[in-house]
Amino acid sequence: TAGALEFKVADLSLADFGRKEIRLAEHEMPGLMALRAEYYDEQPLAGARIAGSLHMTIQTAVLIETLVALGAEVRWASCNIFSTQDHAAAAVVVGPEGSVDAPKGVPVFAWKGETLEEYWWCTERILRWPDGGGPNMILDDGGDATLLVHKGVEFEKAGEVPDPSTADSEEFEVVLGLLTRTLAEDGQLWHRTAEAVQGVTEETTTGVHRLYQMQEGGKLLFPAINVNDSVTKSKFDNLYGCRHSLVDGINRATDVMIGGKTAVVLGYGDVGKGCAQALRGQGARVIVTEIDPICALQAAMEGYQVTTLEDVVDTADIFISATGNKDIITAEHMGRMKHQAIVGNIGHFDNEIDMAGLNRMSDVQRINIKPQVDEYVFPDGHSVIVLAEGRLLNLGCATGHPSFVMSNSFSNQVIAQIELFNHQDFYERRVYTLPRHLDEKVARAHLDALGVKLTTLTEDQADYLGIPADGPYKPDHYKY
Ligand code: NAI
Repeated sequence: TAGALEFKVADLSLADFGRKEIRLAEHEMPGLMALRAEYYDEQPLAGARIAGSLHMTIQTAVLIETLVALGAEVRWASCNIFSTQDHAAAAVVVGPEGSVDAPKGVPVFAWKGETLEEYWWCTERILRWPDGGGPNMILDDGGDATLLVHKGVEFEKAGEVPDPSTADSEEFEVVLGLLTRTLAEDGQLWHRTAEAVQGVTEETTTGVHRLYQMQEGGKLLFPAINVNDSVTKSKFDNLYGCRHSLVDGINRATDVMIGGKTAVVLGYGDVGKGCAQALRGQGARVIVTEIDPICALQAAMEGYQVTTLEDVVDTADIFISATGNKDIITAEHMGRMKHQAIVGNIGHFDNEIDMAGLNRMSDVQRINIKPQVDEYVFPDGHSVIVLAEGRLLNLGCATGHPSFVMSNSFSNQVIAQIELFNHQDFYERRVYTLPRHLDEKVARAHLDALGVKLTTLTEDQADYLGIPADGPYKPDHYKY
């Protein structure tokens, strides 16, 4: 009906439960609540139309409502088919002041267990506003919303109708199918969309990687802020967030005893470091694989054995990929694993594990144990347990990172949105990171909640170090 809120979620009646968990999460997200208090009068996002593509969880609900509290209009989709928490999605649609019969919140297009077609339909919905226009800001996680706009513009420019049968993956076939439809409807849609977008703020390593590739190729259509590389994001969320949610995902999916087992962590970046620490904390013997000598040496200095997957594929019990790279665990590897070895990915995309190859093997039988847990039985009788169909298991099999760490990440997101939206003349079509003093501001906002007492630098000491007494405390090249 005219004027009614547009949305598509699993079940609006879950809103009450979602609202209760949002209330608890708000207390655990002091950074976001401090930004609401600081900027409420100023309304720095008034006029912003934000299209958000980021896991639709309880923590994200607090982010969305912070953006709204600062004046933004928002539309939201999840950035993964399994990561939505349906009660969170319902609560955001209903809104703090609405009811199930009269929702007054934010248009959300997300539910747990979308098909790929539904996923890309949802992504398209956040880019197409009821007045026929589009967003003027994108908030992305993994870069799918940004990718859709860029691909659309690419095809419009070439005046070419995409051919879905040329796609190199099932997912890209869906994207090309979607673009075929929009191009037939309106050959300038994505040009107009891209022109209206003042900028994107990107959450994760993989999405940021895509942005730098576009920048290098001269293809970036609007400015971007790399939120991932704020220290208070990647050195906290990727590390301590995964330290929390990896084991949560493995436990909820399998409830297998981790202590005593041999676990392989593939990739020892920020995510891999958190995963290795968590598995060791459970009493697993942890083995790391790396391509980068620096990260390999770091792992060795922490006491982890560092070797290749080939060396341990037939003896280890748990395999976790955390590389952001493709083809890390192949179907052939899985064919050589121990009976009931557990295979999971915590990197952003599912191509770390060769699920397509596994599903193509006609002599391998798939037994669904429960949603997001599958046993694949090989002809010799041994099986492997694959979590979340190869998609990020901490969000597919559990509820992702806890609120407190996400408050750090999302405070950077809010600050980045305010910055890009209000200073569009300053930013070119490049990728930027936030200045260090804002990173320090985010960290500072989280100290009281943990009872941290900071030492004050004296003027004399500040002079001695040659830094301002109130920060920034480290030069840009400092590594943390
Ligand atoms: P990173 O770049 O710090 O670490 C990845 C590591 O994998 C690097 O050290 C790299 O050398 C290594 N690597 C690459 N190819 C490899 C191969 N073939 N074998 C072994 N190691 C290899 O990236 P970060 O921040 O740790 O992120 C990893 C992935 O996790 C990304 O896709 C990121 O988007 C995602 N992510 C997922 C989160 C979640 O909640 N599930 C949270 C944060 C990030």
